[in-house]
Amino acid sequence: MNINIGNFKIIITENYEEMSKKASDMVISQVIIKPDSNLGLATGGTPVGMYKEIIRNYELDRVDFSKVKSFNLDEYYPISRDNNQSYTYYMNTNLFNHINILKENIHIPNSETNNVIEECENYDKMMEDCGGIDLQILGIGNNGHIGFNEPDTYFEARTHLADLNKETIEANSRYFEKKEDVPKKALSMGIGSIMKAKKIVLLASGESKAKAVEKMIFGKIEPGVPASILQLHEDVIIILDKEAASLIINKK
Ligand code: GLP
Repeated sequence: MNINIGNFKIIITENYEEMSKKASDMVISQVIIKPDSNLGLATGGTPVGMYKEIIRNYELDRVDFSKVKSFNLDEYYPISRDNNQSYTYYMNTNLFNHINILKENIHIPNSETNNVIEECENYDKMMEDCGGIDLQILGIGNNGHIGFNEPDTYFEARTHLADLNKETIEANSRYFEKKEDVPKKALSMGIGSIMKAKKIVLLASGESKAKAVEKMIFGKIEPGVPASILQLHEDVIIILDKEAASLIINKK
């Protein structure tokens, strides 16, 4: 089912697999139309199925990533890039090791830097210098965060060092042995960098995301719900499974 609400084009799918396939189709068409696309990529549990589907299509020779540049949304800080909880490790194992993207075209905020300010400035500059993000993939946190832009009293525009809030640490602790092991900080693209993307595709799956999805679509635009700012972007496609869409289906 496809519905439009405000600027949002919303696709409601039957399940996680269909959501992942639709999202993968969007990435693949973007790269076919513009082989030197700059892709903004996300981590978390949600896009894993999309990455699998992209790899499947790559193996069938349907898409070529040799000219693509990628910019990841965020990365824990500090963390060794070899740590299996780092987003560098996640991206290598879930996507990059399986497609023909060039190593030098991959960008992930440097979780090992001693100079956070310089790293953040460089990250924004690199994105600007290569013409900005063509297609940004986003997930959404249970608390409405995008990237690691947590609910706050203002929108943080640029790449920055973010303090993760309790809810996010709790949600991410499912990937760690102990809650104490979850990093407390992360480097994240800012809201300004995300909003500059030419096109955005946001994915959400499962009932735990339903409230955040409802607030993003129908709520007031406010930094307390970072994803609500997407209401002001002109090209956002939201792909949901039925559970994530459960609170918006009857509201339209
Ligand atoms: C994480 C990431 C986000 C991600 C979100 C949801 O903390 N920083 O980029 O979109 O939280 O994660 P998941 O897809 O695992 O629910």
